[in-house]
Amino acid sequence: IHVDWDAVTAEKGGYEHFMLKEIHEQPKAYRDTMLGRIDHANHQVVLPELKLSVEQIKNIRNVHIVACGTAYNAGLIGRTVIEQFARIPVENDVASEYRYRSPIITPETLVIVVSQSGETADTLAALREARANGAHVLAITNVVGSSIARDADDVLVTLAGPEIAVASTKAYTSQLIAFYLFGLYLAQVRGTMNKEEVAHVLAAMEALPEQVEAMLGQADPIKTYAEHIAKHKHLFFIGRGQDYAVVQEGSLKLKEISYIHSEAYAAGELKHGTLALIEEGIPVISLVTQESVMEKTVSNIKEVKARGAEVLAISYEEHAAELLKSVDHVITIPKTLPILTAAISVVTLQLLAYYASLALGHDVDKPRNLAKSVTVE
Ligand code: G6P
Repeated sequence: IHVDWDAVTAEKGGYEHFMLKEIHEQPKAYRDTMLGRIDHANHQVVLPELKLSVEQIKNIRNVHIVACGTAYNAGLIGRTVIEQFARIPVENDVASEYRYRSPIITPETLVIVVSQSGETADTLAALREARANGAHVLAITNVVGSSIARDADDVLVTLAGPEIAVASTKAYTSQLIAFYLFGLYLAQVRGTMNKEEVAHVLAAMEALPEQVEAMLGQADPIKTYAEHIAKHKHLFFIGRGQDYAVVQEGSLKLKEISYIHSEAYAAGELKHGTLALIEEGIPVISLVTQESVMEKTVSNIKEVKARGAEVLAISYEEHAAELLKSVDHVITIPKTLPILTAAISVVTLQLLAYYASLALGHDVDKPRNLAKSVTVE
């Protein structure tokens, strides 16, 4: 017998592309990133690797989260998590902009840089600037020996394993897990959450890998919808709160590998200008998981429907029937706590981008003009 074999095919482990393989590795990446960091007996997060002292944590007055690309988008979720859990004000910055706006950094500022590779030049420069101004810098990175890991005061490693596809998937979701852990850790030290509240979040976090596994087994509706949007040149994503942060990543993913132009909008902001671009048949993908603002999002969906948009809602099974009164299609996802929803909902958007790229015949793993790691400013 003759078997066609090459090293790259072998590394893909039976998947057609690295991106699809990496999407499927997410449950493992979640488990690995949580491993050893949850003390089940005491319902708490343990991060012995951190040098940041209890005293320093109690004194933090503000947090800056600085990163590029997908890591920046993970930081948007990091902000919601740290603000909700630890009640510390957080700002997000694109690394290439951070230095040039003279950010207000004091010794009570914690700067968190996020980088899969640990080598992104803009992020490294921002880190150095922050340290030079006296901030304590925590790096969330996937590469232990990287330049960013070496230069930071503290490192919280994500255990996603090597990521080969240019479009980041498992690194992003592992960064979310790192933010959940770190946010809870801050909350424990600062006393903003009690043991029961922490235990409640931890239990929901530990259910995430199985929930994502279940989703990955039911990707057909996403594939069908992706083949449909592949015929379009422009589309919109909308969401509120955490959903808005997630659609920003979904839009980036779609642009990177399918080259379909899309914009992610805060659902309530669309009417202040961009609504003018809504015309007959344009796809609008709405992420609707935040129940506290669901009614408002549905009003925004009706605004675009009235202008001829064709709307997909991504939401929970229990809302599907009601949403179908206002939208054209619904894709359901497993339910988790509102604060953890990104770790589930983004997987749908990753698959959407993947299948749209595939339908268009693009090089999924190596999109044009992009590099996995950008070491120039
Ligand atoms: C490049 C990649 C993006 C990535 C960004 C930041 O532009 O194409 O996918 O999100 O760099 O990379 P980092 O390694 O710092 O997370």
